[in-house]
Amino acid sequence: MVRPIRVAVLVSGSGTNLQAILDAVEAGTIDAKVVVVFSNKRGAHALARAAKHKVPCEVLEADSKDREAYDREAAALIAKYGPDLLVFAGYMRVVTKAFIERFPDRIINIHPALLPAFPGMHAQAQALEFGVKVTGCTTHFVRAEVDAGPIILQAGVPVEEGDTVEALTARILVEEHKILPRTIQLFAEGRLKVEGRKVMILHPESATHTGRPRQP
Ligand code: GRF
Repeated sequence: MVRPIRVAVLVSGSGTNLQAILDAVEAGTIDAKVVVVFSNKRGAHALARAAKHKVPCEVLEADSKDREAYDREAAALIAKYGPDLLVFAGYMRVVTKAFIERFPDRIINIHPALLPAFPGMHAQAQALEFGVKVTGCTTHFVRAEVDAGPIILQAGVPVEEGDTVEALTARILVEEHKILPRTIQLFAEGRLKVEGRKVMILHPESATHTGRPRQP
């Protein structure tokens, strides 16, 4: 057992990935505690999921703020909770460099494609249009370039004849809900080592620390 890491989850929508994390926390399969759910959308269903699990929520809508000002405010709100790790779980905003640098190698994202294929929006539709036979999902560390950071875990999902975006999305989500908690656990165990654009997954005995140090 390692000490539970403090996780901030950033969302914009339905929150099925948030739910997978909350369920894994409750089942004791990850050594993590969700300390805050942050949303840029007041109506996000993810907020109701957080409330049901008695997790504090913060909402900051963009209004007319410029991106830097928004990110500064968002980062300050989140930092109050002393997170070890930030998880973008369907967080539909491109973050600024300053935001990323405030939490170096402590922000991960989940994307519904096998990166570097199909970054950006509508990844499932892109995969169908391109005609790939296998797509999937990826967890990665967040960098300033969208969906381009060092890859942590991936899971493949077959594309079936006559697939629709909805059917493919649902099939990919099943795998997202597995690799995201698994990624958080690897982080908690101190087993993720970033080397340039690659992530080494260390053997448990090689983990140099348990979880990430708190933010100063
Ligand atoms: C997921 O497909 C995730 O990969 C993408 O946005 C979607 C969020 O779904 N970034 P949910 O809100 O977790 O249900």
